[in-house]
Amino acid sequence: MEVRLRATRPADIGFVTALERHADNREFIGQWSDAEHFSAIAGERGREHWIVECDAAPAGYLIAYDCRAADAGCYVKRLLVADKGRGIGTAALREYCRRAFGRESVSSVWLIVLASNARAQRVYRNLGFERYDPSPEDEKRYDAAAEPPIAGAFRMRLAGRLLA
Ligand SMILES: CC(C)(COP(=O)(O)OP(=O)(O)OC[C@H]1O[C@@H](n2cnc3c(N)ncnc32)[C@H](O)[C@@H]1OP(=O)(O)O)[C@@H](O)C(=O)NCCC(=O)NCCS
Repeated sequence: MEVRLRATRPADIGFVTALERHADNREFIGQWSDAEHFSAIAGERGREHWIVECDAAPAGYLIAYDCRAADAGCYVKRLLVADKGRGIGTAALREYCRRAFGRESVSSVWLIVLASNARAQRVYRNLGFERYDPSPEDEKRYDAAAEPPIAGAFRMRLAGRLLA
């Protein structure tokens, strides 16, 4: 099984939104309009939109924000795979982290996860992510660069290196 990331193209929008809006996924992730996806696909405001490919076929997607301007590393806004429990999500996030840490001035990759989402937390911990509760001062910076956690969610961060 070969998992890789490739830049999302406008023609992928149907695949992305069908997955995002699917009943199996709605409880775990936020919902974007097509316009928000197209904006990220175009790279506006430091946003990145990636298709997760498994053996050269679309298998999911990942959205990230480049927060280096605020000294807040890279933020993984959304990760979603269609065929769950086969290692695709772990491989995709590992690949994203490798890319992010390969960039200048990226010392952390972080994300926000629902406390109820044990499967996602397992994936993140397996890669070395830990719960991150910044100081009030840092919190303001992180919130402004990306967004604050919603109720029932918390930040996790991978600082500096991948575990696996
Ligand atoms: C979260 C998600 C991206 C992970 O991708 P995936 O391909 O399913 O994950 P993997 O197969 O790589 O790994 C799943 C891990 O969780 C474990 N797991 C599965 N169900 C679990 C559960 N209910 N509770 C705890 N752990 C669970 C698996 O055993 C595996 O861990 P292991 O490798 O130590 O055995 C994917 O499940 C998904 O798209 N979920 C819906 C959207 C979502 O939750 N996105 C993240 C929002 S923060």
